[in-house]
Amino acid sequence: MTRCAAILIALLSITVPARAEPAAPPVAISELIKSIEPVTVTVDDPVYKKAKRYEGYPLAQLLRKAWPEVEAWAAEGAELVLTAVDGYAPSMDLARALAGEGVVATRDLDRPANDPWEPFPKGRTMLTPEPYYLVWPGVAPDDPHYRWPYKLAHLSVASFDARYGGASPPARASGQAQKGFRLFVQNCMPCHSVNLIGGNTGPELNVPKNITEYWTTRHMLAFIAAPESYRARSKMPSFGHLPADDRTAIVNYLSSMKQRKLCAGGAPC
Ligand code: HEC
Repeated sequence: MTRCAAILIALLSITVPARAEPAAPPVAISELIKSIEPVTVTVDDPVYKKAKRYEGYPLAQLLRKAWPEVEAWAAEGAELVLTAVDGYAPSMDLARALAGEGVVATRDLDRPANDPWEPFPKGRTMLTPEPYYLVWPGVAPDDPHYRWPYKLAHLSVASFDARYGGASPPARASGQAQKGFRLFVQNCMPCHSVNLIGGNTGPELNVPKNITEYWTTRHMLAFIAAPESYRARSKMPSFGHLPADDRTAIVNYLSSMKQRKLCAGGAPC
């Protein structure tokens, strides 16, 4: 190799950047909305349980302004983390957030400008959504793929592994279980947790007892396809629209998690 070629190769290896891991520190929404045009939307509001009109800023526009790399991160399956003032931090698929028509609401248009939020009851107290409330025109209020956090303050992005690695199947799990894990994150995790990672609308499914240690596979498959055939007024939506093979993969995933139980702080339990 000539000296010249060696130098060229050395230079190339320096200038070709490593693939950027999506790991964006929180950005304050108050900074992002500066110099963006507000929009008006009407939504079917899950918090107030009626139609509401808001003024706010398109989420996708805020995300592109916050991070030039955001499209690449979305293509890698990264998660958008939505952090509220009290630290509550649900997340949703970043690609879905970028493609959707979400609006970060700054005021309720059915209220006077000097008192822009309608209080709502939460437990024994009354809350308002201020400072910001993420709303989704055209999305059904019970669609678990979308998040409607109120008292929202910051946006950040985490890689899929950073967010869900603690609930991934053991390394030796089958391909079906690996596929089931992805399906579970997409369809079930908005409401259920595994190893305490995920939502809490539905029960935790792995610790301390794995769901397949006390439910048979046959009943679980039937329950997932039609929860209301087991429990009247079940709060779980039906997943009868998923191909049977996907439902089986999800149950395989859940079953594989018997071998990987992690409790608080990622410690074995
Ligand atoms: C919108 C929220 C929501 C989603 C999404 C959801 N569930 Fe549920 N699930 C619940 C709730 C709430 C219960 C509690 C019992 C009930 O209401 O029937 C439940 C109960 C269950 C149970 C029975 C556990 C028990 O002992 O009560 C299983 C198993 C289950 N879900 C699996 C799944 C799987 C697998 C998926 C994804 C394909 C899923 N769920 C998606 C809300 C949800």
